[in-house]
Amino acid sequence: MDNEILKALRSRRSVRAYKPEQITDEELKAVLDAGTYAPTGMNYQDPWIVAVQNPEIINQLVRMNATVMGTDGNPYYDAPTIILVFASSPEKWENGTADASLVLGNMMNAAYAIGLGSCWINRERQMFATEEGRQLMTHLGLPEGLVGVGALSLGYPAKPLPPARPRKENYYRVVK
Ligand SMILES: Cc1cc2nc3c(=O)[nH]c(=O)nc-3n(C[C@H](O)[C@H](O)[C@H](O)COP(=O)(O)O)c2cc1C
Repeated sequence: MDNEILKALRSRRSVRAYKPEQITDEELKAVLDAGTYAPTGMNYQDPWIVAVQNPEIINQLVRMNATVMGTDGNPYYDAPTIILVFASSPEKWENGTADASLVLGNMMNAAYAIGLGSCWINRERQMFATEEGRQLMTHLGLPEGLVGVGALSLGYPAKPLPPARPRKENYYRVVK
């Protein structure tokens, strides 16, 4: 079977080079809205999503992430927008990470569907477990007790997308 959605799911790729210009508010809203329609355990809609376009805060995130990574580079690949996704801590809600991961997945596929590039960027758990991270979460208007799950770099891709790498053998099996 094949259709536009299945094709898109196969051809989305992680983007690691972005044009400097900012995406439109309409594009950002389309991506964020798609995130909010991800399924969540018990339909709690537990995740918290923060899109950051403020250059000062972006620089802070770059620095914090690079510190955890142990690099001088920009772990968000100079994307003009960074979307952070948080969840309740595992003690409070066992499905927090799963819920937030689906939000990130929906947003990546939505970004691709409207011609944007995105990439899941790691290390938010460690970044937001620090004192600086907790202060930034307060500054971003988030409640206490959340953990960072992941982030997306988001923007216009600077290069054509490569084809998908081959899938591993025996990735799935069907038992009837
Ligand atoms: C949980 C998770 C963490 C990831 N962390 C990073 C990251 O920190 N930096 C990065 O460049 N890509 C990261 N990626 C992107 C993967 O490297 C990418 O999805 C994988 O290589 C497959 O490529 P594709 O997305 O183009 O199909 C992450 C992906 C996932 C799902």
